[in-house]
Amino acid sequence: MLVVAPPRDAPAVGSLSAMELSEHARANRDAWNGRAHEDVPLAERQWGTDQVSWGIWNVPETQVNVLPDVAGRDVVELGCGTAYVSAWLARRGARPVGIDVSENQLATARAMQARHGSSSSFITPARRPCRCPATAPTS
Ligand SMILES: C[S@@+](CC[C@H](N)C(=O)[O-])C[C@H]1O[C@@H](n2cnc3c(N)ncnc32)[C@H](O)[C@@H]1O
Repeated sequence: MLVVAPPRDAPAVGSLSAMELSEHARANRDAWNGRAHEDVPLAERQWGTDQVSWGIWNVPETQVNVLPDVAGRDVVELGCGTAYVSAWLARRGARPVGIDVSENQLATARAMQARHGSSSSFITPARRPCRCPATAPTS
């Protein structure tokens, strides 16, 4: 899920408070950690291209035009996984923060970031599971 904040002058400053994970949140994290290796080939493909595409059908952004102009915008990618969407946004001038509960997904994200020489550090462990709002602003 992407949340694109309205333009503003000052950078966001904040932190997530540490908390114990519930049993189901731990199970969710462990499941994502356990299958993280399956996402490595996708991460390698997607980090290696600038062609934005969406979802399991890989629908090209050029067909659907859903991505607003993100240059100069603050963007949070909740459940960023290997963070290739955040990488695409950073290359388009956004200031993304990718948050994920799975350390193993984030390890792949950091490896990709190192390989592709991205200077910005936008990958963050979620100290508590993200709860998606019923509706999320996109602009
Ligand atoms: C299908 S992957 C999506 C990765 C990427 N955003 C994409 O579009 O390809 C879902 C990611 O969400 C993370 N995730 C699942 N539940 C979460 C939660 N409650 N809080 C934070 N991250 C979560 C998983 O670890 C996984 O990396």
